[in-house]
Amino acid sequence: MDKLTKDWFALDFPGGPTSVEVADDPFDTDAPIVEMESDIDVEFITEICRIKHETDRTDYKDQMPPYQKLPRTRNLYISLLWNHSTRPIRYIDLRNRKDADPPPLTQPDEGSLKVEEHLKSKGLNLDICCQMNLQSQGYFRPHRDMNGLKNLMYIWIPLTYPKGSSLKFYPHGEYKPKFGNYYLFNQHTYTHAIQNMHSDECRYALVGHLNPELTDTPEFRQLVRDNINKQYNEQTNHGWTHKVNS
Ligand SMILES: [Fe+2]
Repeated sequence: MDKLTKDWFALDFPGGPTSVEVADDPFDTDAPIVEMESDIDVEFITEICRIKHETDRTDYKDQMPPYQKLPRTRNLYISLLWNHSTRPIRYIDLRNRKDADPPPLTQPDEGSLKVEEHLKSKGLNLDICCQMNLQSQGYFRPHRDMNGLKNLMYIWIPLTYPKGSSLKFYPHGEYKPKFGNYYLFNQHTYTHAIQNMHSDECRYALVGHLNPELTDTPEFRQLVRDNINKQYNEQTNHGWTHKVNS
């Protein structure tokens, strides 16, 4: 592991601000992560991901542009489960100063369709969904993602979290998820990184983009507002290993 990534996980961070102002459009709020309670069946989804991983292994580092000399990831495999959107996503092509091309429109296969239906039954409509398999001794270096979405329209659904897994945002610190819940993840504003130092288990997760039209309802906006206030302004320190207001 390179020094920057090693230090990232070894050092204590200063902690985030003492309060967060909810933006008029709550999806624009400047908070790193917002926990949303749910009862997603993570074992059901993990089993489908394990089967897909047997046949579809795309090493993420192989998708990096050739000018990038230092690998951004190790042992990270990402499979596209579906894509219904033509928006340019994933990252901005800094070399060519343009949005990267969108992934191809992709219909879910039989297993992925079960995942999509399950998520819909929980009120979650994802335009694009990928499974991220971070295998033993894997990591994704500190980075930000530019994808043209609002801050909190990107979703993270942890499925397994082997001992030795870590997610850290700067300046807040480490965040521990709870299974069954999903997370609105501000991957633009806050530099973040993940690792899985377990000796053999894989860390499975789903990531994706919420469909703005189906997601942005008055009810959902209120839920996001309430959760931001609870998690950042009432000092409950949801999930943070280091106090948000330290
Ligand atoms: Fe990221």
